[in-house]
Amino acid sequence: MISVKSERELEVMRRAGRITAKARELAGRMVRPGVTTREIDKAVHDYIVSQGAKPSFLHYGGYPASACISVNDVVIHGIPDKRVLREGDIVSVDVGAYWGGFHGDCAATFACGNISPEAKRLIEVTKQSFFEGIKFARQGNRISDISHAVQSYVEANGYSVVRSYVGHGVGSEMHEAPEVPNFGNAGRGPRLVRGMTLAVEPMVTEGTYEIRVLKDKWTVVTADGKLAAHYENTIAITAGDPEILTVTGE
Ligand code: MF3
Ligand code: CO
Repeated sequence: MISVKSERELEVMRRAGRITAKARELAGRMVRPGVTTREIDKAVHDYIVSQGAKPSFLHYGGYPASACISVNDVVIHGIPDKRVLREGDIVSVDVGAYWGGFHGDCAATFACGNISPEAKRLIEVTKQSFFEGIKFARQGNRISDISHAVQSYVEANGYSVVRSYVGHGVGSEMHEAPEVPNFGNAGRGPRLVRGMTLAVEPMVTEGTYEIRVLKDKWTVVTADGKLAAHYENTIAITAGDPEILTVTGE
């Protein structure tokens, strides 16, 4: 069952989305050499709580933090710890906030100081692949129209999309139906209907798309040790262009 949100529910999701987007922005501003990932996590936690919201990830399936902070070859689900960020790192920050009974979910990859031109291009292609994908997030299209557009853009740029993790519906639960893969043929999957809310989240790798999960059972790394980037927003399907809910409004 794919839940369809009413305009009143969407209004609540805009508020949850704004809090989530502001937490991502705050985290991005903290990414610089010398900062620990735990310090960024604490700031994200404190900001979300200060807004009367709850960090969606904290204790989710036993996850121990409010943000996922994934550095360099870590694709997703990096657990914040005492790791000190260094010049040249690329740092993916994924955050979720629960407010008024609904979740926002968003992520982005940030540069720590000066990064290589190759890393910069990976971050830009990953972000743009989200926007290429959501060009197809329109009432009447099918889920995999988004998937196909993301994959085509990423691969045309010489990168790979992760297969083992996918985007998802989002609403009163952080993970709802349907799955939103970042790969596949167009024209498959459920039809998009106004009021559906989706987390579209390309995970892009420099090398192969194979991943490995570390012994902590969370941290997902590239199998070949090359860089990965992530970009995600919560969107709503409308009668026209999709609406991005995880925006700061500034
Ligand atoms: N933002 C992630 C997702 O899109 C969720 C993080 S997993 C958690 O699925 F356990 F940390 F919550
Ligand atoms: Co997500």
